[in-house]
Amino acid sequence: MKGILLAGGHGTRLYPLTTSLSKQILPVYDKPMIYYPLSMLMLAGIREILVVSTPTALPLYRELLRDGKQWGIEFTYVEQTRPRGIADAFVVGREFVGKSSVCLALGDNIFYGHGLPEKLQSAAALKSGACIFAYPVSDPGRYGVVEFDAAGKALSIEEKPTHPRSNFAVPGVYFYDNRVVEVAPRLAPSARGEIEITDINNFYLERGELQVETLGRGFAWLDAGTHESLLQAANFVYALQERQGMMISCPEEIAMRRGFINRDQFRALAEALQTNHYGNYLMQLLREDFRESPA
Ligand code: DAU
Repeated sequence: MKGILLAGGHGTRLYPLTTSLSKQILPVYDKPMIYYPLSMLMLAGIREILVVSTPTALPLYRELLRDGKQWGIEFTYVEQTRPRGIADAFVVGREFVGKSSVCLALGDNIFYGHGLPEKLQSAAALKSGACIFAYPVSDPGRYGVVEFDAAGKALSIEEKPTHPRSNFAVPGVYFYDNRVVEVAPRLAPSARGEIEITDINNFYLERGELQVETLGRGFAWLDAGTHESLLQAANFVYALQERQGMMISCPEEIAMRRGFINRDQFRALAEALQTNHYGNYLMQLLREDFRESPA
């Protein structure tokens, strides 16, 4: 399976922070925002990743993430010239996806929780159809909303409904078989002028091929698209990291624990950074021999 990280858009809700900076490069406490969804792809075991962003921001991501070899993965970059919608990731990314299945991660979504790597890995193992998640929120009208029947089967998905039929929002990590690259270019733009990821999910739902996995209380899902949610996300990461002494979404650590890089490669990364907080953490992992389980 291949991965797409979507890091474009105008970021207007975060103005003036985003006047000269791309939203997904802004800090969430001690890391650029994009490290968090990138970590989800890496935890899912995905190593070929396309980064999609605006023509002006794409060079920033190239500088930040490079070719990926440092983390044992491979980045490809493509421009989205206009924010035509989330589903456009599969139009601009069609050549990259080729004949593969694909996972899309939104660049401003942050996940955390025990058992998350296993959930992501089982979704990434899908052979056909699609797999998405559902997460209870207090403000479902801001998101894609999934309605379930009494047996827990998904009945409908609506994008930002005025009258949500449930409190289950669809978070921004989606797994699809290869048909998604055929479906996306055929979608008609919605009232907000975008091709919607919800329409792709409905394509699979109507055919009985959409698996919806519920993420319960033990998980955190945060989006960092507004000033308030950005601050909440930073506070969350700060509080957990300070308490546990373990980093959330550190690509170097995940690369090492998943076997994408070996100990010598990890040591070289750590030694190059050891004069700061981030490098000190990497050095500490080496000294402690990676005793704790990955987050
Ligand atoms: O966060 C999850 C929600 O994301 C889902 O529940 C919704 O179903 C889905 O439509 C989406 O809702 P938003 O309206 O919050 O998406 P937004 O326009 O903020 O875009 C999400 C990210 O994708 C954001 O980081 C910007 C980027 N993006 C968006 C568009 C429309 C692009 O890179 N290109 C685009 O064309």
